[in-house]
Formats: sequence, structure tokens, C-alpha cells
Amino acid sequence: MNLSRLSNIFEERFHSPCRLFRAPGRVNLIGEHTDYNAGLVLPVAIELSVVTAAAPRGDNKIRAISLQLPEELEFDLAETSPSARGQWTDYVQGVAHTLTQAGYPIRGANLLIDSNLPVGGGLSSSAALEVSAANALLALSSVEAPAEEVAFLCQKAESDFAGMRCGIMDQFTSSLARAGHAMLLDCALLEIEFVPLPADVRLVVANTMIKHKLQDSDYNQRRAECEQAARLLGAASLRAASDLSSLPAHLLPRARHVISENARVAAAAAALRRADPAEFGRLMAESHASLRDDYQVSCPELDTMVAIASAQPGVWGARMTGGGFGGCTVNLVAADAVDSVCRALAHGYREATGINPVIHVCQPAGGASELPAPSSRTSPEPALRQSEC
Ligand code: GLA
Repeated sequence: MNLSRLSNIFEERFHSPCRLFRAPGRVNLIGEHTDYNAGLVLPVAIELSVVTAAAPRGDNKIRAISLQLPEELEFDLAETSPSARGQWTDYVQGVAHTLTQAGYPIRGANLLIDSNLPVGGGLSSSAALEVSAANALLALSSVEAPAEEVAFLCQKAESDFAGMRCGIMDQFTSSLARAGHAMLLDCALLEIEFVPLPADVRLVVANTMIKHKLQDSDYNQRRAECEQAARLLGAASLRAASDLSSLPAHLLPRARHVISENARVAAAAAALRRADPAEFGRLMAESHASLRDDYQVSCPELDTMVAIASAQPGVWGARMTGGGFGGCTVNLVAADAVDSVCRALAHGYREATGINPVIHVCQPAGGASELPAPSSRTSPEPALRQSEC
């Protein structure tokens, strides 16, 4: 991402210098559709991210534009009941509205947003946008808020304003991740353990280029099914359930996925602690099968990408990542096999589907932060690294 260009465009457009706020996307290694069931997740933040360039305005308005998407936002913070428009600007407006409603005295601001995260790719482009916009709005207003609180308010904005009843994983990861580590998050206790990734493994993320549209998808329905299953079992959440035998046939596989996935996350974290990628990979394969067969959130293209990866030497494990219905797979790959695996995925997937995938080799990145301003308009690019093969 070209930060000098972003700052220059901001200055030309808004006639003032700006500050830069980065928030990363994430790839979830294991623990899918468990967060909103008070379960366990094991994501890493990645270097692909959203950067919001921001400066205060003299009035009470928020104006937001994007370098990637055409829609623009302008609204007054005094508006008490704004409504969503079904576009990217909802995430920014939702965050500003939610911060204001929560009592944070947000001031008017101009925002210019840049991103190298694929939209609808299952790498949390929306959470990254929310967290970077929230941090920008808070900092420009000289308001401090703990990173956990920012994550919760961003999740609330996505759920209540944009209408996607997501869990807490994406916003927590974007806000709180640690470079070089996976983040084991217990979504019931909100406890985090950072587990280092072994030096000889790499994360290869393969985008099927099938876009999910989570708001319109079965995501909210899956969540409702889990809530219904928990209610029928008399449990506060599926985390607390064990005997599923009384569930009706359509809910049983959903609950079975959640409960088995929680057990897999615990086992995968243990495997990571003892640097056992073979066991971690075996659990990834089980997770994918459970998401495909019991939770039914995979799609033929994700299954194809996983099957190609699983046949490659040097791949410890492969599975879909994120909400599903399209988006990306995550592959745990031996460092010395990365080039051949990337080539095999690109070639095999194109042969099977006619679609050119985009493949990223990702480093576990740190959570959201303010970036130093590029030193001058002519200075060399302090780019955020992104690798593709
Ligand atoms: C989306 C949601 C998350 C989580 C995943 C599935 O990314 O935003 O909260 O539920 O799907 O694990």
C-alpha cells in the first residue's frame, strides 16, 4: 500500500495534512462459527489492511471517501437515527454513530480510506475498516478507549447498524493481535493467549474469487439456528451444551459442528504450543469437513481449493477460513515448499474452475496502530509489505 500517495491525495482533496490509522485483516487458522456461540477461535492478523487517512473538520460532519469504491459518505453527527444504505459507508457511519451513542464525544472529520484487503474475501475487510475508522475518529477527538472496547463497539456497529450479526473474533483480532503469534481467544471469558507460530511454517491464503455477501447469506440464519439449539437444550450457549440427542434433525449437525470445532481449537492450540504442524493440519482438515458437511457453509470452489492443497507435498493442512460461502482458504505450509504450493494452487484451481485465484503468503501481523506520517511528499515509499505469488 502506498502511504505517500494516500497522504498526497488526502491533502489535494481536503487541503490539510492527515494522520494515518492502520487496522489489519485476519485469517482464522481454526475455530469457525464458534465466536458467536461463546466458543474458541485461533486467528492471526495479516499485513493486508485498511488505512484511514484522517483530519478534523471545523463542523460536526463526517465525510468519508474511498480510493477503491465509488460511494461517498457525508453525514452530521447530530443525526440521531441514521439508516444503513447497504454499502461500504455503512461501516464508517455505523462506527461513528455507535461511538457517539456510547457517549464518546466524536468530532467532525474528513476520512480517506485505502485498503488492500479483498472485499467479501473472508479476510475481515469490514472489521478492519471499522477498527481503523474508529481509531481515527477517537484519536482526532483526543478520546482514549481501550482496544477491547473499540473492538466491541465496532462489532456492535456491524451487527446493529450494518445488519450482520457477527461475533467478536474479527474486531478483536484487528484491534489486539500480536505479530508472529496466533491469538487463542475464549469468546466466553474474553481471555487471550498468544501462541507463537513455528519459524518453519508459512500461512498461504488462497482466494477462490467467489465473493460472499454475508449480510444476504445464511450467516444470520446459522446464528439463529445455534441460538435455537441452545434454547432447546436449556443452555446459555452451545459452549455449555454436550448431549445433543434431543435436538431436531435440522439443528443437530449445526450444534455438532460448534461443539466439535471448539474441541479442535483447544487441540490445535496445544499442537501449536508444542510446534506440531502435522497434528494442527489434521485438525484443519477435520474442521473443513465439519464446515462443509455439518455447518454447510462451504461451496464447491472452496472444496476444490482445499482438495488441491491437501494433495501437495509440504502442505500440513488446508481449510476454508472466515464466514464461508466463498472467500479464501488458509493453508499451513512448510516454509521450503511455499513456492511450489503457490504454483500448484494457482495452476490446479485455474484448471478445475477456469478462475484465476489470488494467492497471498501472509505473516502474522500486529493489531491496529497509528502509522508515522510519510516524511515528505517526495520521500521513498514506506509501503506496508504484501506478498503474492
Ligand atoms: C465472520 C464473522 C465472525 C465469525 C466468522 C466465522 O467473519 O464476522 O464473527 O463468526 O464469520 O467464524
